[in-house]
Amino acid sequence: MSAPVRFDGRVVLVTGAGGGLGREYALAFAERGASVVVNDLGGDMRGEGQGSRAADVVVNEIKSKGGKAVANYDSVEDGEKLIQTALDAFGRIDVVVNNAGILRDKSFARTSDQDWDLIHRVHLRGSFLVTRAAWPHMKKQNYGRIIMTASAAGIYGNFGQANYSAAKLGLLGLSNTLSIEGRKNNIHCNTIAPIAGSRLTETVMPSEMVEALKPIYVSPLVLYLCNEETEENGSLFEVGAGWIGKLRWQRTEGAIVRQKGQNTTPEQVRANWDKITDFDHPTYPKTIQDSTMYTMKILEQIESSASSSSDSPRTTFNAYTGGMNAELAKSFTTKPSQFSYTASDAILYALGVGMSTKEENYLKFLYEGADDFSILPTYIVIPSMGSLTDNLMEGIPGVDAPLANVLHGEQYCEVYKPFQPSATLTSKVQVLDILDKRSGAVIIYNVDTFDENNEKVAFCQFAIFVVGKGNFGGVRTCEGIKQPIEAPKRQPDSSIKESTSIDQAALYRLSGDRNPLHIDPNFAAMAGFKTPILHGLCSFGFAVRHVLRQYANNDVSLFKAVKARFAKPVLPGQTLQTDMWKDGNRIFFQTKVVENSNICISGAYVDLKDTVSFTETLKPAMSTGSQLQSDDVFERLSKEISQRKGLAAKINAIFLWNITKGGKQASQWTVDMKSSKSGEIYRGEPKGKKADCTLTVDDGNMVDITTGKLPAPQAFMTGKLKVKGNIMLAQKLGQLFQEAAKM
Ligand code: NAI
Repeated sequence: MSAPVRFDGRVVLVTGAGGGLGREYALAFAERGASVVVNDLGGDMRGEGQGSRAADVVVNEIKSKGGKAVANYDSVEDGEKLIQTALDAFGRIDVVVNNAGILRDKSFARTSDQDWDLIHRVHLRGSFLVTRAAWPHMKKQNYGRIIMTASAAGIYGNFGQANYSAAKLGLLGLSNTLSIEGRKNNIHCNTIAPIAGSRLTETVMPSEMVEALKPIYVSPLVLYLCNEETEENGSLFEVGAGWIGKLRWQRTEGAIVRQKGQNTTPEQVRANWDKITDFDHPTYPKTIQDSTMYTMKILEQIESSASSSSDSPRTTFNAYTGGMNAELAKSFTTKPSQFSYTASDAILYALGVGMSTKEENYLKFLYEGADDFSILPTYIVIPSMGSLTDNLMEGIPGVDAPLANVLHGEQYCEVYKPFQPSATLTSKVQVLDILDKRSGAVIIYNVDTFDENNEKVAFCQFAIFVVGKGNFGGVRTCEGIKQPIEAPKRQPDSSIKESTSIDQAALYRLSGDRNPLHIDPNFAAMAGFKTPILHGLCSFGFAVRHVLRQYANNDVSLFKAVKARFAKPVLPGQTLQTDMWKDGNRIFFQTKVVENSNICISGAYVDLKDTVSFTETLKPAMSTGSQLQSDDVFERLSKEISQRKGLAAKINAIFLWNITKGGKQASQWTVDMKSSKSGEIYRGEPKGKKADCTLTVDDGNMVDITTGKLPAPQAFMTGKLKVKGNIMLAQKLGQLFQEAAKM
C-alpha cells in the first residue's frame, strides 16, 4: 500500500480560509501535518468590511485539534504580507492555495467600474500578488505547489457574472503559464473549478443543495494536487459532490480556406463552415507548440500544394470535397501511374520490414549480387500505395477522404510472379465500392499492377476507413471484397517473435510512405499518439516475412496472396509476435505487440502455392552443408524447438545421440527436453545430467529417420538404430520430429 498523503514539515497558505472551501482546506492540511497560515480579510461576500474573527475561529479549531496554524487578516491585495506571515511563523512557504473570493453579480449592462475592478482585484490580481510573493522562495527551495481557483462561470459563462467570469478564466491563463515557468524548479500550478455550498452559493442554490454539496468533497483534490509526489501540472479540474473530472481543449480538424498565392475571403470561410466546425475528427492540442507547429505545417502545406511534393504534409489536403458518392467513384477511370525500382530500393524495403544480416539466408534479400537475389512479395504495397496516394491527391470524384480522417483498415495482395531485380511497373487504381458503415465510410480500392510487357504481376485491395464520412446512403457490403478470416481457435502451430528497431519507421518511410505521423512527434501528437507510430504496412511486412520463413523456406516463388486487418498501432522498438496456424497451403496468422499484448494484425492469412515443411527444408541445407548431415538436422531442430511452446513439457526427457559414420563415432548431440521450458539441443553429452535414453545411429540413417523415409521402429528392428536406457521414451522422439515437421 502507498503512504498516506502527508504534509509534515510543509507550510501552507490558504487565502480566504475563514469560511467555506478555504476553511475546509486549512483544516485538512493541518490534520495531515502541515503548518497553516489561515488568511481571511473577514469582510462580507461583496468585498465590503473586514475583521479578524473568521480567521481566528479556524486557527483555534486547528489548534484545538493539536494542529499548527497562524492567522493573517490582510487582503490578498497585500500579497507580500501574507507570505511574510508564513515566513515569520514557520520559516518557509511550500503551498499556496489561492481561494479568497467575493461576488458582485450584475447583468453586463449594469456592471459598474467598481464591480468590475473589485472582482478583478480580489480574484485575479490578489492571486497574482500572493503567488508572486511566494515564487522566489519556492524557486530557491526547488519546490512549490500552487492552486488557482477558477469557476464554471468562467469556463462556460453565466448570466450576471461578466466580471467574475472574466477574472476566473484569467486565473486559468495565469496558471497555464506558471505551470510552464515553474516546471524546472519543481513548482506545479493547477486550477480547480469547484462547486460547493457556501455563503457565495447560498443566494443562488436551494438550501438543500448548499447543505448537500459539502466543501469536504472538494478538499481532497486540493490536497492531492499539492502533495510532493504529485506530478500533475498545468491542468484544470471540475470538482464537487464527490466527483472530479479533468478538462482539456479539443479542436476540430478544421479546413484550409485559401490556396497558394491567394487571400482568404469570407465566402471561402462560409463555404467551409461545416468543416471548420466539424468535431468528428478532433485533435487535443496540449501546448502552444502543438498549436503553432500545426499552423506552420499548414503554411508549409499551402506553399507546397502547387507542386504537391510527396514530402509535404498532406494530413488535411484533399482534392475532392464534394461528399461520398459511390456510383460516381466507381465509374471514374483513374490515370495509371508508373513506378520504377532497382535492387537497392527493394533492399531498402527489406531492411524496412526487419530483414537483417542476423537471418540465416539474408543474402538473397539484402545482397543484389546473390545468385538467388529475391524481392519480398509484400514489396508490391509500395507501388500500389504510391499509385493510390497520387490519385487521391489529384482527386477521385465521389471519394471525399481527407487524409487526416483516413485509417488503413485492411490489405490484400496477390502476386502472380516474383519481382525482377529492377523494373518499371504500372499501377491502375479502381474504386470497387464505397461502403456506408454509418460512423464512417470504407472505400475499397483495387489496384492492378503490370510489368513492362503489360503482363499483370500483382493485384492489391486496400480497405480504407474514412472517419466521420458515413451516412451517405451507401451499401453495407459488396461483391469482390477480400474478407479477413479469423484464425483457428486451437493453440498456434508456430510463433515467431521479433523486435522492431527504434528506427524502424524512420527506415521504412524511405520506401515511399512519408506521412509525418511516422516520424514527426508533433504530427503524432496531433493524431493523438504520444510518439510517432510504425506504418501498419511495416508490421505487415514483418508478419509475412515470418510466414515465409516458417512455411516457405523464404522461397518467394511459393507466395500467392496475403490478407490482413490492421487492428492496433505499433510503436517503433516494440516486439512483434506472429502466431501461425497451418491449414493446407493456407497459413492463418495473427500478430501481437509483445509489450502490451495488443493484437496489431488480425483476421490474416497467407496463401502459399505449396508449403515447405521443416523436414523438406533440411534437404537443400544438407546438400551444401557440413560434413555430417545430422549436424544440420540438430542445428535446425534446435532453432525450431525454441519457437514451439509446450513441446518440451510434452516430451520431458533427455536424449543422447551418438552419430556414427563408417562405423565410427563421428559426433554426439544432446536433445534436452526436460531442463528448460522450450528445450535445448547442443553438441556433446548432457551437461551435468544423465541421459534418459541413448540412441546410436549412422549419420545417413539419422536423416532418413527424421525425414520419415526410414520409420524409426523399422530402423530399430533392423539394427540401424540402437537404443539404450528407457526405450519407451524413444517413441516420443517421433513426436518431436513430427511436431517439427509441422513448422
Ligand atoms: P466563501 O465566501 O465562503 O469564502 C471566500 C472567503 O474569502 C471568505 O471567507 C472571505 O472573507 C474571503 N475573502 C474575500 N475577499 C478577500 C480578500 N480580499 N482577502 C482575503 N480574504 C478574502 O466562498 P467559497 O464558496 O468558499 O469560495 C471559495 C473560492 O471558490 C472563491 O474563489 C470562489 O469564487 C470559488 N468558487 C466557489 C464556488 C462554490 O460553489 N462555492 C464555485 C466556483 C468558484
